[in-house]
Amino acid sequence: MAVIDLIKERFSPYEFADKAISQSDLNTLFEAAGKAASAFNEQPWRFVYALREDEQAFKVIHECLVEGNQGWTANVPALMITVVSKNYAKNGNLNTVAQHDLGLAVGNLSVQAQSMGIYLHQMAGIIPQNAIEKLNIPEGYEPVTAIALGYYEGESGVKERVPVSEIAFKGVWK
Ligand SMILES: Cc1cc2nc3c(=O)[nH]c(=O)nc-3n(C[C@H](O)[C@H](O)[C@H](O)COP(=O)(O)O)c2cc1C
Repeated sequence: MAVIDLIKERFSPYEFADKAISQSDLNTLFEAAGKAASAFNEQPWRFVYALREDEQAFKVIHECLVEGNQGWTANVPALMITVVSKNYAKNGNLNTVAQHDLGLAVGNLSVQAQSMGIYLHQMAGIIPQNAIEKLNIPEGYEPVTAIALGYYEGESGVKERVPVSEIAFKGVWK
């Protein structure tokens, strides 16, 4: 059995077509994200997003990115900041796997997006304090990454990966 094309063909572009993503397609992406598994079904992921046509909201999210990421994202069709809830709602304990669960949700979102011809470029390079203040992120929540989304148009493509033999060890670490 081969790896499915949606996974094989995904990559993170820097070049996006000048084509908007519809609100209904974005809603589908968030619905896919929300189907991910999470510890105690906490669903700690949150997403604050803006479409480029909503100029003011887009500018605010853009200002949450580090300079290196601001350059290539100035005209992407959509930007979002991913956020986690830091503690379990049911007992207040620290959720040590909140970011793991956010990653699963973004993984779902990514595969769903790929099936719709939409590409993601995730970014660790954000300014968390800007996001907290400018996006009104409440106490108990933490901004984690940003994601640029859009339809791909350009000349990049899938990148090399290390072989499976270097990432999966049968029995003990080799
Ligand atoms: C959590 C995370 C953080 C990343 N941060 C950045 C970033 O700040 N800036 C950037 O240009 N790319 C960033 N990337 C994109 C990676 O460089 C890219 O995914 C990696 O080179 C593999 O390429 P591929 O996604 O095309 O397979 C990030 C990706 C992930 C998953």
